[in-house]
Amino acid sequence: MKKNNTQNNDPIGIFDSGLGGITVAKALMKLMPHEDLVYFGDTARVPYGTKSRESIVRFSVENAEILMKHKVKIIVVACNSSSSCSLETLQAQFPVPVIGVISPGARQAAAATMNNRIGVIATSATVNSGAYDKFVHVFAPQAKVFSQACPLFVPLVEEGWSGKKIALDIANEYLKNLKKYKVDTLVLGCTHYPLLKNILRQAMGAKVKLVDSAEEVVWEVKRVLQEKALIKDGRAKGKYEFLVSDRPQSFEKIAQRFLGDKIKIKLVNTK
Ligand code: DGL
Repeated sequence: MKKNNTQNNDPIGIFDSGLGGITVAKALMKLMPHEDLVYFGDTARVPYGTKSRESIVRFSVENAEILMKHKVKIIVVACNSSSSCSLETLQAQFPVPVIGVISPGARQAAAATMNNRIGVIATSATVNSGAYDKFVHVFAPQAKVFSQACPLFVPLVEEGWSGKKIALDIANEYLKNLKKYKVDTLVLGCTHYPLLKNILRQAMGAKVKLVDSAEEVVWEVKRVLQEKALIKDGRAKGKYEFLVSDRPQSFEKIAQRFLGDKIKIKLVNTK
């Protein structure tokens, strides 16, 4: 792809398979309120976490192409499944900086653990990629990483059921082994999972530190924008655009509840 003329007043591009990336969007809005954002949720093809690496890479490239059409200055892969399978491909293929969520979350977990026992909950694709094990060991070579795939969490969130009792029952079942392994830090290795934070806290107990990869990545985004002189000029409040590939109404309802603000959503087609 040809290099474009990146401008500091262009928007930040974010994508996820669906709703999960709004946890990253919200953290970005808080940290850099004057930046413009374009968010793409691939709701026609969610979930990614149960799909093959090849499909996830293909979807991720198409998502990045959609964001590039909106002239974004940076791409935030607000999806652990995409980050763990496709980050290098995207970085090689696109002319703007591409930031993933795995390394910032792993760094934070390595800093937080006191007993060197770190739990990671994520989609099957992320767990199978081994990406968290690899990155946690970069920052804490002596740490033990215990991973658990939680494939039912994403549909629970997309369905708007994250506050229901059934979500807590499912969390208790998924997390029982991590409790047995006495992890003192739990990485929420899927951007959908912060929407389940209350029930995850109940299931793990108050002493276990929850690491939200969504909250960590925004510091990395700010650092890269500063380093590349891409911070937006002026102090006007940022403009936000939300794009989805299917079912805009259901995305709108849950996203608005989470962001606490009205949002405009546009339907776009992937290939
Ligand atoms: N929110 C995504 C992640 O962080 C994707 C979940 C999914 O689509 O399975 O992995």
